[in-house]
Amino acid sequence: MSKGQTVLVVDPDTDFLKWAVRQLTASELSVLSAARADEALKIFTSESPDLVIADTHLEPYTGQELLTRIRERDSNAFVLLVSQYGTTQAVIEAMKLGAFDFLRKESLPFNFRAIVEATLKEQRATKAARASRPQLTVEQHQDSIVGQSEAMQQVFKLVGRVAHSDAPVMITGESGTGKELVARAIHHYSSRSAKGFVAINCAAIPEQLLESELFGHEKGAFTGATGQRIGRFEQSNGATLFLDEIGDMPLTLQGKILRVLQDGELSRVGGNDVVNTNVRIITATNKNLETEVSAKRFREDLFYRLNVVRVQLPPLRQRIEDIRLLAEYFVQRVSEEKHLPRLKLSEEAVRVLEGHLWPGNVRELENTIQRACVLATGDILMPKDIPLGFTAGEATPAGPIQKEEAIEALLRVAQSDPTIELLPWLEREFTVHAMRQTRGNQVQSAKLLGITRATLRKRLERFGITRELVVQ
Ligand SMILES: Nc1ncnc2c1ncn2[C@@H]1O[C@H](COP(=O)(O)OP(=O)(O)OP(=O)(O)O)[C@@H](O)[C@H]1O
Ligand SMILES: [Mg+2]
Repeated sequence: MSKGQTVLVVDPDTDFLKWAVRQLTASELSVLSAARADEALKIFTSESPDLVIADTHLEPYTGQELLTRIRERDSNAFVLLVSQYGTTQAVIEAMKLGAFDFLRKESLPFNFRAIVEATLKEQRATKAARASRPQLTVEQHQDSIVGQSEAMQQVFKLVGRVAHSDAPVMITGESGTGKELVARAIHHYSSRSAKGFVAINCAAIPEQLLESELFGHEKGAFTGATGQRIGRFEQSNGATLFLDEIGDMPLTLQGKILRVLQDGELSRVGGNDVVNTNVRIITATNKNLETEVSAKRFREDLFYRLNVVRVQLPPLRQRIEDIRLLAEYFVQRVSEEKHLPRLKLSEEAVRVLEGHLWPGNVRELENTIQRACVLATGDILMPKDIPLGFTAGEATPAGPIQKEEAIEALLRVAQSDPTIELLPWLEREFTVHAMRQTRGNQVQSAKLLGITRATLRKRLERFGITRELVVQ
């Protein structure tokens, strides 16, 4: 029971304060309140409440600043930050500064008491043992990972929590979900950010070369080794090494990587000297490594070493609420990069984007928007400007259905998410395609699809396919 524990609520909005005090008093908690940050800090110092709940928009300094000052006084303090807005940067920064959680104000009416109870329970459990989290200076950083969905907010929180440690992080998710972007963010927010971020794609390099790429070689180690070479592990001393597509790492090299992780030691190919290196490893893969381990294609011991923190990126179809934001972000970026007049997205276009299954995830969306911006004729992007079809992952010109690619994309989706209903999606894609081929002619489209015109009409209605959408 949290009964008798003390909570300090800080918010400039007196109505919210009153509401929160009523809620918490009903939970038999002692409640203190303040409208300003400086006032709150004084109360915190004199009363040592068990939990502080603070809005980010405070006077004379922000909730983040208040959080920092509170944790300077007590590095074990439990603080929940609350905000109307949850930008990526705000969430990551809050977690990095040591907030226990970052809450969106709009969701509070539904779960306020439950969240406070759960947090206080955690506070009691860790009160004695809790180790302090290091404080890092806040850096200015452009908000470049977009996502308001619950799933992505969880990812940002995790990035903020793990950035400062040297723990290995494994990022998994389908192709194009943003694994590399997240790896870079972790590095950016880490204490190694002044040092380099060295990335290597393990799948792109033949096995013989990969060993010397990673560990370096001595002169004469093999035919063609005319000089000494310093490998990536050695280059990344003090920095972050991103091993992309780790699932493709040959078994022969996995043991050597394990040695670096365990002892911080390596030997160059053809050399006996032991070289010490201190790297923070981030890995990514779109393979299921657990399966690879059971199939003995991936060493179990290495897997556990790498999988200390797991960041799982959800496919885009499971965070439809992010599609609008991402699309707007890409439109803005492309307009700036290509010096195009500032384009806008129409509501209808957003609906079309939200209706697509995105087997190629964010990368596919990014490519689609790029093509749309270049192809657009007006200054507002309409459905007809959006070249949707079977675009699986990489940029493919809009046009005839690319069968193999489409089937591959579908299989990937089906394998990764057995609950997904592929048939309606296929039906919709084929219908759009037929209508495009016939420039919106219903009689010809029905013929192409082998259905009656009445069935076609029903389908068009059901899927919201309009002439405007298909006729360029
Ligand atoms: N949340 C996001 N906000 C903004 N851009 C994103 C986001 N997620 C992905 N992107 C963009 O989508 C593209 C693909 O992302 P990234 O290369 O990180 O994916 P990946 O998971 O590494 O893909 P793959 O498995 O194919 O290597 C990049 O251009 C990236 O900038
Ligand atoms: Mg990648």
